[in-house]
Amino acid sequence: QKDIRILAIESSCDETAAAVVENGRTVRSNVIYSQIATHTLYGGVVPEIASRAHIEKINQVTAQALTDAGLTLAEIDAIGVTYGPGLVGPLLIGVSAAKAMAFAAGKPLIGVNHIEGHVSANFIANPDLKPPFLCLIVSGGHTNLVMVEDYGKFRILGQTRDDAAGEAFDKVARSVGLGYPGGPKIDRKAREGNPDAISFPRAKVAGSPYDFSFSGLKSAVLNYQNHAKMTGEEIPVADLVASFQKAVVEVLVSHTMEAARDFNCKTIAMAGGVAANSALREAMRLACEAAGYTLTYPELGLCTDNAAMIGSAAYYEYCAGRRSGWDLNAVPNLKL
Ligand code: KG4
Ligand code: ZN
Repeated sequence: QKDIRILAIESSCDETAAAVVENGRTVRSNVIYSQIATHTLYGGVVPEIASRAHIEKINQVTAQALTDAGLTLAEIDAIGVTYGPGLVGPLLIGVSAAKAMAFAAGKPLIGVNHIEGHVSANFIANPDLKPPFLCLIVSGGHTNLVMVEDYGKFRILGQTRDDAAGEAFDKVARSVGLGYPGGPKIDRKAREGNPDAISFPRAKVAGSPYDFSFSGLKSAVLNYQNHAKMTGEEIPVADLVASFQKAVVEVLVSHTMEAARDFNCKTIAMAGGVAANSALREAMRLACEAAGYTLTYPELGLCTDNAAMIGSAAYYEYCAGRRSGWDLNAVPNLKL
């Protein structure tokens, strides 16, 4: 059987990325140009600046992905591209580039849902992973607990009612002056702190055992700081972020384990930028070990935005016979 090689493009937020993935599981190349240094100046992603940076880098990044894979465009079987969710300007750059290349080279075009891409990073991480499995998706824009019933087929069990987990990390980091992006900075700072120093709320959503809510926790962290400022106390930043992180991790792990029990699913995966969090990885590992479940999570670089995960998702779309037309458009609020 012939190997299927997909050139994938990802530009939904602040990384311009391209990759070549073989048969959905083998990464032949994975190029990421991160705009973080640019956006750090503004404390967050500025959509217009992101769009311009994507335009400047997209051709270079896609060419590099082919070169690194040792392939020409003619040797590629299809082009996959993130078409949502994300920022409309940045998405349009990737979609336009993918269409142009696919049209010029006479290759099929496959639009990919970015969140499905995050889940698919697990197929790269674990060659034996097959649906069905439970996946905790935690990124800057999304927090979902889903049953992956088949390739490209998801049943959403729970979601956040307000902030995404990564958004909470970013907002808390900003409030204590750790800067952007907040998740990795809190992860590092928390190692110096005591996670039991401050007791923060673990929110439950009444009647929806798998739903999440992080805005109350975020407010509690802000209130704690306001109170300390008013009384002139010094804010113990390491303890504060360690305690915040523990509250987030506990809720993510307990909801996931509850769903695994309820749905009798012994295979668990994690996806998205927050799945790179060292405390979450460790806590989930311990919980799965104790319960006898199999746990998969991508290596750090495949948790945060990248094109290899899009190439994996595109492969399964390709196998299912799904193709996009030349009218493929960016869909900023695309759902799973
Ligand atoms: O998946 P991603 O790269 O982009 C989205 O699709 O949103 O996720 C980015 C999010 C940001 O909120 C970032 O702060 C968070 O993932 N993040 C982390 C860590 N690394 C990235 N959060 C906690 N701990 C980390 N180590
Ligand atoms: Zn993402």
